[in-house]
Amino acid sequence: ISKMANGICDNVIVATYLSARCPVFFAPAMDLDMWVHPATLQNVSKLTSYGNHLIPVGHGELASGLVGAGRMAEPENIVAYVNDFFEKEETPIKEKNILITAGPTYEDIDPVRYLGNRSSGKMGICIAEEAAIRGANVTLILGPTHLKVQHPKIKVISVRSAENMYQAANQHFKKNDVTIMAAAVADYRPKEIATQKVKKVEGNLKIELERTKDIAAELGRQKRKNQVNVGFALETNNELENAQKKLSKKNFDFIVLNSLQDKGAGFQHDTNKVTFVDSDNNRTEFELKSKKAVAADILDKVESYFI
Ligand code: CTP
Repeated sequence: ISKMANGICDNVIVATYLSARCPVFFAPAMDLDMWVHPATLQNVSKLTSYGNHLIPVGHGELASGLVGAGRMAEPENIVAYVNDFFEKEETPIKEKNILITAGPTYEDIDPVRYLGNRSSGKMGICIAEEAAIRGANVTLILGPTHLKVQHPKIKVISVRSAENMYQAANQHFKKNDVTIMAAAVADYRPKEIATQKVKKVEGNLKIELERTKDIAAELGRQKRKNQVNVGFALETNNELENAQKKLSKKNFDFIVLNSLQDKGAGFQHDTNKVTFVDSDNNRTEFELKSKKAVAADILDKVESYFI
């Protein structure tokens, strides 16, 4: 802080700071007496007078064992602070209710085993965060994932199976203006869930599977004129044809197609390469981009329905 306030450029961080033309935030962390020292107070006020943004320190236990002001703000508060700063003033989806499904579903076989898939939920979480930054009220129905949702204004409903996800989506659908279905929902589940661990036997084991509900198709049936439904299609072959079939079968307003044949697209990647197909048969093909940038493209398209 002292070096930043006084332009002492003897390390890469201050060099970066002095060259930065973008908004700069600083989140101090120090012991309580240091924090109230006149030298610190003056440096902090110098930094804010230059237009930098102070993220206030927290109050609590400090590294010295003392308790007081000086703890670095919790990482999620730092993220919330930055998100609030960048939240766009007026957007076509500000205060609109947006429902998003994301992640895989797990279909239990017995108390220790399940059928799952490779979805991480990353794409859906990126959409939820971008929608929240644009001021929408976001409800995210999220299958099992290790990923954390950063934006504090996103209401997360954690679910496990396709049936759980269906129940949650069905319950929330009516009051939403937009529903984006990015989840990789299992199409089949074991017909019976064994209450005890299934023991191994001689020879092969057969598990009978039954169909799960198609959440997107069901919500497509319920859709009102003023609601926008968006779907995804992950395909390996006959991509456009399959996507168009899904678009009309599930009554989507547009569908986001990603092909597993494209390098860097699909599960577990930070990037995605998509094509939008809408119900008027307009097609827009995009370059390979970060999932965050793809989320912005999807929401730009969603916003076009509200202009
Ligand atoms: N979807 C859903 N509920 C299901 C299956 C799919 O809501 N039980 C949604 C997905 O979230 C996605 C779209 O439907 O938005 C298409 O999913 P996809 O798995 O590509 O299509 P399926 O209909 O399952 O067809 P298939 O697996 O035969 O390609």
